[in-house]
Amino acid sequence: MSADTAIAQVKELFAAQYGADPTGVWAAPGRVNLIGEHVDYAGGVCLPFALNQCTYVAASPREDERIRICSVLPGDSEPVATECAAGSLGPGDIEGWVGYALGPIWALREAGTLPSDPRGYDLAIVSEVPLGSGLSSSAAIECAVGSAVVELELGSESLADPSVRSELIAAAIRAENDVVGASTGGLDQSIAMSGQSGHALKIDFLHGETMQVPFDLDGHGLAILIIDSKAPHSLADGQYASRRGVIDAVAASAEAPTLRAIGDADAIEAAARAWAEKEGYDLDVALRRVRHVSSEIDRTLHAIELLRNDDFEGFGADMYASHASLRDDYEVTVPQLDLIVDTAREFGAIGARMTGGGFGGSAIALVRREDVEPLSQRIAQAFEDAHFDPPAFLAATPSEGARRVA
Ligand code: GLA
Repeated sequence: MSADTAIAQVKELFAAQYGADPTGVWAAPGRVNLIGEHVDYAGGVCLPFALNQCTYVAASPREDERIRICSVLPGDSEPVATECAAGSLGPGDIEGWVGYALGPIWALREAGTLPSDPRGYDLAIVSEVPLGSGLSSSAAIECAVGSAVVELELGSESLADPSVRSELIAAAIRAENDVVGASTGGLDQSIAMSGQSGHALKIDFLHGETMQVPFDLDGHGLAILIIDSKAPHSLADGQYASRRGVIDAVAASAEAPTLRAIGDADAIEAAARAWAEKEGYDLDVALRRVRHVSSEIDRTLHAIELLRNDDFEGFGADMYASHASLRDDYEVTVPQLDLIVDTAREFGAIGARMTGGGFGGSAIALVRREDVEPLSQRIAQAFEDAHFDPPAFLAATPSEGARRVA
């Protein structure tokens, strides 16, 4: 679906549901993370880019204190629609997909970015970001609705203000943590708001710094292929929280705000050892978990330097090493993701790894442009041979973050 088609569709949906044209349409993108996985909540460094696949929100303010919201989920022809009191959007008030959509409004009011009195809105949503594919459809919906409401309340130029964007990132994270109950780390919301076309974003969570890193795939005859493993994936199901729980507990036991703040890899290992012994936690598992985080942060810093020198071969080697660490030390891959990466390596792809939270979802491969088709065929065949459900393939183009589109 092109952006124009999606915008026309979301306007039509709005008009059909509410009998009027929307005040405007806002979009926020899905993402892939090139490297730096499961380190955001540890104060680490990530390198995501925003996709051109977006979630679109058509929105208008209302005179009363009701919120009406509807969405056509991918694969469905009929919209799902619901409404609620604009004053009841906090933890325990709303759940499911509505929590992702409306939680940010609550968090923006709590933070004082939006007026605290409950305003009503009509909202219609259409998404091109596939759900459950590890491409962060959740941050896309949070940031699209958040952007819409911020501009409806604070004026049409308010997204141009970097401090408003930062407040939106924080609100989207808070909504996901407190309203939805997924303890995710902030990578997804940051890139959904801050993506720039032709760039990946270095995010350093310890120092609170970001830097745009040129990522000119076309200019180098390269492509990033996304392979959706179709293995079911959910971050609210406890697996993600259990990985994060170990990292947070080791940091807390060393009285550090994050794992990385403890110090170098040796200091982190010593802290994990002490924590595991005190808690009676499996020592080997604890050491492997923190080793993933330390090594992934080093690898990501190394990979970013390579990329800045156009060393794509070296960058690809770091991608493979990242996958191995996520598979062996962090244990967040699934057989489908490992098969994709093994197949890509045998094929001769420059690099490949799972992307996002894992436990299903997608992998990415860095390839020469002419290899996109043959590699896709090779992976599809490998899935058939292994009796896995067929994977899906998407092209990934580094694109813009959240913005008004109509
Ligand atoms: C999910 C979370 C992010 C991050 C990644 C793993 O996408 O939402 O915060 O932790 O997993 O890197």
